[in-house]
Amino acid sequence: MTKLIIDTDPGIDDAMAIFYAAAAADIELLGLTTIFGNVTTEIATRNALRLLEAADLAEVPVAAGAKAPLKLPPFPPSSEVHGDEGFGDIPAATPAGKAVDEDAADFLIRMAREHKGELVVCPIGPLTNIAVAMERDAEFVHNVKSIVIMGGSLEEGGNITKFAEANIYHDPHAADVVMTAGEKVTLVGLDVTHRILCTPEDFTQIAANSPELGGMLQDMSHFYLAFYLKVAGLEGCSLHDPAAVIACTHPEHFETRSLAMKVICEGEEIGATVAAPDSGRKPVNVCMKVAADTVKALFLKRLALLP
Ligand code: BDR
Ligand code: CA
Repeated sequence: MTKLIIDTDPGIDDAMAIFYAAAAADIELLGLTTIFGNVTTEIATRNALRLLEAADLAEVPVAAGAKAPLKLPPFPPSSEVHGDEGFGDIPAATPAGKAVDEDAADFLIRMAREHKGELVVCPIGPLTNIAVAMERDAEFVHNVKSIVIMGGSLEEGGNITKFAEANIYHDPHAADVVMTAGEKVTLVGLDVTHRILCTPEDFTQIAANSPELGGMLQDMSHFYLAFYLKVAGLEGCSLHDPAAVIACTHPEHFETRSLAMKVICEGEEIGATVAAPDSGRKPVNVCMKVAADTVKALFLKRLALLP
C-alpha cells in the first residue's frame, strides 16, 4: 500500500488523478495539499474538498498552500484550459468541509516525519509547496520515500510556451530547487503524458461504468477536450496528472533516464527543464517512455470501480 499525498491545483486532469487515487486499492491517500496554477489556491482548496466529498473521502485532510510563486508575481489562472472555476462548465459549489489550519508545506513536513521513509508525494501542479517544504526542513527529502512530479519536458517541447510545461513554468524557481533533490525525484513530463490520450468515447465509457464520479469527469471533460481540439487539433486529451499518480505505484510502466536537471529561470526559455551534466547536481529520474495502452487501461479499469 502506497502512502500518498497529492499536491494539486484542481483542474480537470487533477480531478481525474484524485478520483483514480480514490479508486486504487494500492493507494492510501493521506492528504491533498493545494497550489495555484489552473486556478487560484483558494479555488484549488475548495475544489480539492469538493472532490474528496464527492468520492466519500471527506475525512482526508486538505492543506492549503502557497498563493504565489517563490519569486515571480502571481499568474492568472489557466481559465482557457480548465474553465474559470477549474472544472470546465461545472458550476462552482461550496464544500461542506474546510482545510486544516496547517499550511501545505508544514503538513507535508509533518507527514514526511510521521511516515518516515514511506510517504510518496505526488505534485501535479506548480512546485512551490515542495520547494518551501525543502527550504523549511533540510530533512524533508530524506524523510520522504519519493517525489513523483507531473511536470517538465526533455525532448517534447512545451505546452504553455514552446519551451516550457505549465507546472514548471508557473514557478520555475521552485522547480529548480526541487531538481536539486536527487534520485528520489521522478519527472513524469510531456515526453510521456502526451502519449496517453483519453478520447470523448473513453469518457462516455467512464460515465457508463461510474455514473456518479465518472459522470462528473465526463461533464468536466467537454471543456478540456474542446481546448485540445482547438489548440492541438487532437480528438482527445492527455492524461497528464493521472499518469503521475499511476507512476507512484506502477513505475514498471515507465522507462526513465537518470539525468542531472535544471530549470531555466529567465529569458525566452523560462520554465524549460534541461539536462545539466556539469552542474554537480545529483541525477533525477526523467520518464522518457511509457506503456501508454497499459497505463490508460489501468486508469479506465480503476475508475470503473467508483460509484
Ligand atoms: C499540467 O498543467 C495543468 O494544466 C494540468 O493540470 C497538468 O498538471 C500539464 O502541463
Ligand atoms: Ca494539475
